Amino acid sequence: MSKKVIPASVKAEARKLREELNYHTYRYYSLDDPVISDAEYDELYRKLLDIEEEYPLLVTADSPTRRVGPPPAEGFTPVRHRGRMLSLDNAFNADELKAFAERVGRGLGGRSSSVEYVCELKMDGVAVALTYEDGVFTKGATRGDGEVGEDITPNLRTVPAVPLKLLSDKPPTLIEVIGEVFMPEASFQNLNKERLEKGEPVFANPRNAAAGSLRQLNPAVTASRSLSMVTFGVAFSTGEIPQHHSEELDYLRELGFRLGEHNAGYPTIEEAADYCLTWQEKRRELEYEIDGVVVKVDSRVQQAALGATSKSPRWAIAFKFPPEEKTTRVERILVSVGRTGVLTPVAVMEPVFVGGSTVTHATLHNEDEVKRKDVRVGDTVIVRKAGDVIPEIVKVVTDKRPRGASHFEMPARCPVCNSKVEREEGEAATRCVNIACPAQTFGRIAHFAGRGAMDIDGLGEVTISLLLEKGFIADVGDIFFVTREHLNQLPGFKDKSVENLMNAIDAARDRPFWRLLYGLGIRHVGAHMAQVLAKEFPSVDAISSASEEQLIAVEGVGPSIAESVTFFFDQQENLSVVEKLRKAGVRMADEARVIRRGGPLEKKTFVLTGALEGFTREEASEIIEELGGRVTSSVSKKTDYVLAGEEPGSKLDKARELGVQVIDEAEFKRITGAGT
Ligand code: IVH
Repeated sequence: MSKKVIPASVKAEARKLREELNYHTYRYYSLDDPVISDAEYDELYRKLLDIEEEYPLLVTADSPTRRVGPPPAEGFTPVRHRGRMLSLDNAFNADELKAFAERVGRGLGGRSSSVEYVCELKMDGVAVALTYEDGVFTKGATRGDGEVGEDITPNLRTVPAVPLKLLSDKPPTLIEVIGEVFMPEASFQNLNKERLEKGEPVFANPRNAAAGSLRQLNPAVTASRSLSMVTFGVAFSTGEIPQHHSEELDYLRELGFRLGEHNAGYPTIEEAADYCLTWQEKRRELEYEIDGVVVKVDSRVQQAALGATSKSPRWAIAFKFPPEEKTTRVERILVSVGRTGVLTPVAVMEPVFVGGSTVTHATLHNEDEVKRKDVRVGDTVIVRKAGDVIPEIVKVVTDKRPRGASHFEMPARCPVCNSKVEREEGEAATRCVNIACPAQTFGRIAHFAGRGAMDIDGLGEVTISLLLEKGFIADVGDIFFVTREHLNQLPGFKDKSVENLMNAIDAARDRPFWRLLYGLGIRHVGAHMAQVLAKEFPSVDAISSASEEQLIAVEGVGPSIAESVTFFFDQQENLSVVEKLRKAGVRMADEARVIRRGGPLEKKTFVLTGALEGFTREEASEIIEELGGRVTSSVSKKTDYVLAGEEPGSKLDKARELGVQVIDEAEFKRITGAGT
């Protein structure tokens, strides 16, 4: 390739365009105060793009056209943070906030009257660290475990609120800034709407959506996700950092960063507490989710004097909001029947917006639970989201109970098939005794096809209902005899979707044996137990002929599990389903056990902790075992590797203590060759 000589005027023009565009991005995304129209912006952008296409040598790392670059070749590389990214201690009410101020006072030798506080909204997103070298954005990483995060530079480049170049003539040689990437509520709603339309799983909340969007291997996907970012601190700088946190924030703004809205300084902890309580009330008025307020000591000299514990600074605290509670009214209590025949009472309520979404249903779990809470039709109830996800009824407002509201009674007959129901001594669950109950049939098939089990993509609840209604399937074995002609008769199925589902069904024939075992839905046999059993009895023939004694001999298998396994394989209906599956060519044994011996991970022991992004735990275990390794549940000196995902638990600390090698997901992929 011949190098074109670049005329000085073009160089200057490119530089000018870059600077202008970066400035306007800053006005638009960081200040929310644009000074040119979108069309004018686009025109400048095109001009720069044209120049760069003609003279590729002019492309710089801070060019606004580089916001979307090529995807990284493989996973994410670990990056060590320059300063440790600490987390924060929590306070759940004004008293705990006061106690924090008292600790601060003591820590400073009783001079608490001179402490000033800065309050910032606590954005509910993903913490990131951004590195700028000579003013140019060069590296962006997730928080990870606080010491080592993941390099997500190409993805962060696509976030418009991340300045590619600092607005300073004399930027520090090196500066690391920390902030929070988040997804505004409206973008989150839109994204989920689109995903629903495309039949993709929706995100539970904006935080998960932001995290998922940042951890994309293809930055173009991140770019399409409307993410924003606020910054709240300098973790490291070769230059001077102002003496007060409030000035540090001003400094960040001058450098071109977006700050949180509503940051405020107060001379007393009481005023800081007022700020917290005010925002607790007003949090829903914001266009994004916050989960609390961060209260920080303003003086950096005092911050330094207070220092930090191994986990969190002593000069800051997170005031966490309690889950939001609302009142609504119970319209009726319906009883649903699951795959094991268990009857679950569910309260259907007047729609109420709580904890970021509209809620209409809340499970009441079982008969005893309804009695304990004494929920009745017509009752006014207080609802909230448990763990901020699952709606629950906290309690009944008995003062508002309508006269004559009667106790809930568990139906004496199955609401779906009208068979008898039973509640065994000592059990909380009431069950429909009819194994052929349509609700059970449906539940069993949905479980079998579900993600944790045979994972048949495209065979969701709606399709299963349609197939059952048309009489094309009656049990899980029939799934493999569904034909193109059958699918063509279902509403909404086109050539492409028929083809996809046929392929997905076919692929399920070759799932590892434990998935089949789990998919059969034997009582007490969850995904983990299925794996334990499949290891000892690696085929349908082996497990179906095992005696209770043989089963109990396996570590982790108790009498009730052993009994339900033998019971299952004693039932003629179940045996004929198994035969149907065998005829359909579904894998009935674990041939992989043969491959295992001599695998590259032979005799290596793994412990998993935290959530992985690219795999479920079962999948990771499967990969390890297929390569000859073993997965155990607790860390000991004999553990070879601890695979740590997001938010790892105490197992990580244990591993560090014992000097066991800790690997992250990227490393795991490298070792196993998985996901590449
Ligand atoms: S300061 C050394 N300020 O909350 C202290 N954190 O639980 C560093 N967060 O990981 C944190 N808004 O992701 C700070 N205004 C704010 C924040 C904030 C959100 C997140 C941050 C951090 C977590 C701490």
